[in-house]
Amino acid sequence: MSAPLKPQRPGMNSRQASSSSFAEAFDAARIRLGQLSFRDADFEEENSSVSSGSRSSTDSEGPVSAVESLSGTPLSLASPFSTPPSPITPSIDPYVADNFAFAFDIDGVLIRGGRPIPEAIEAMKVLNGENEFGIQVPYIFLTNGGGKFETERCRDLSRQLEIDVSPGQFICGHTPMREFANRYGTVLVVGGEGETCREVAEGYGFRDVVTPGDILKANAATAPFRKLTKSEHDNSRDLLADGGRLSDIVIEAVFVFADSRDWASDLQIMLDIAQSKGGRLETRSETLNEGPPIYFSHNDVLWSSSHEHARLGMGALRRIVETVYEDTSGGRKLRTHAFGKPQVSTFEFATRLLQQWRAAQHGLAESEPPATVYFIGDTPESDIRGTNNMNERDQHTEWYSILVKTGVYQAGTEPKYKPRRLVDTVLDAVNHGIRREMAKLGSRKSTGGRLLPLDDAALKAMAEGRTPNFVTRAGPFSDP
Ligand code: G3P
Ligand code: MG
Repeated sequence: MSAPLKPQRPGMNSRQASSSSFAEAFDAARIRLGQLSFRDADFEEENSSVSSGSRSSTDSEGPVSAVESLSGTPLSLASPFSTPPSPITPSIDPYVADNFAFAFDIDGVLIRGGRPIPEAIEAMKVLNGENEFGIQVPYIFLTNGGGKFETERCRDLSRQLEIDVSPGQFICGHTPMREFANRYGTVLVVGGEGETCREVAEGYGFRDVVTPGDILKANAATAPFRKLTKSEHDNSRDLLADGGRLSDIVIEAVFVFADSRDWASDLQIMLDIAQSKGGRLETRSETLNEGPPIYFSHNDVLWSSSHEHARLGMGALRRIVETVYEDTSGGRKLRTHAFGKPQVSTFEFATRLLQQWRAAQHGLAESEPPATVYFIGDTPESDIRGTNNMNERDQHTEWYSILVKTGVYQAGTEPKYKPRRLVDTVLDAVNHGIRREMAKLGSRKSTGGRLLPLDDAALKAMAEGRTPNFVTRAGPFSDP
């Protein structure tokens, strides 16, 4: 086995870890455990299915016909032993898991209505090394939400989750839209608070950003019942400056960056442009179908905020725009585009970000994707559907979908898209993922089905790169 590696902490990127170092360390532990000659039927059967590399919609825990709830149900790993075996000292160091990673949805999983879900703070601690194994597990955030600079959203998340969140591990609904900044000149950017989305778009490199507020300032009759506030009026661009006319302006594309703050006027303005002559403001196309492309940063009809029940999201506005267009265009269909989850392209974008993050932050080989990514979400239609689709598509990585009950998904209902696992909270999800990985690596062989619990002294020792003197106790991962 290679020389013990220095414990890794965020920001330290000296190590060039090989993909087997994690397995090597635990293989050594398993061999040591093997010498204790315990045979565990459960483990063998599970290990065989995992190692077959078959990625089907069924998991080694059995077909996901009806969603299996993890919370409160002891896993099949229930230990046959009343008292745990004598302590062992596997020679492992606290370092980064290099064969698996996590990806988190935000609203309904980590945050609700701007406030952290309590278990989320715990879950982050577990991933950052506060677990029996002293391992750190790389993770990224993939939200459909938006309306702020990624850096600002990361500051909010750092404060809410009491960790450092870097833009290098964060994707929001409109992040992929930056790729369009050089493709279009004048664009309409819709949604969000005040001028923020204009600033984000300009930050992405869009050169000429118009907002609905600018159009309403130039022609208040555009939405008769919508009165701009003084600050909205003052902050909006004067499109008629230098004697210009609205009809001089040609919108080459419409980007809905974040949830609309005024559906009626945003709907009216997007419809005007969809039925215009090639995006020219104040015009009407005879055929009503010469408008520019319309891009939505996501397609969530429902999302989880501070209200007890899920709230209507951008996907609902998208449906209204398409339906009202059809009703006012002689039945013609309006084809709009959506980014965000469940689009596979968004998950492919996330794969690239995860690789860069694992390399930059944890020194892992960028060319070696993790064997498994656990994606934790609250919305079957976007999070679970997207993860399952990516699992079908990705040749290198198993995308393992976990659905939580803290957001859009209502417990006891049948989700339209089936997760590999249903759990109560994100903390359960993180525990499940780490447990499954440890099971794969056979770290529980010596305890007759129980995982290796470690106490704080052991954790502290491992964090300091020392081999601890283990004692066995019930830990968050061990069955009650
Ligand atoms: O507006 C955002 C919302 O639709 C969902 O956000 O974090 O659950 O993907 P998230
Ligand atoms: Mg969500």
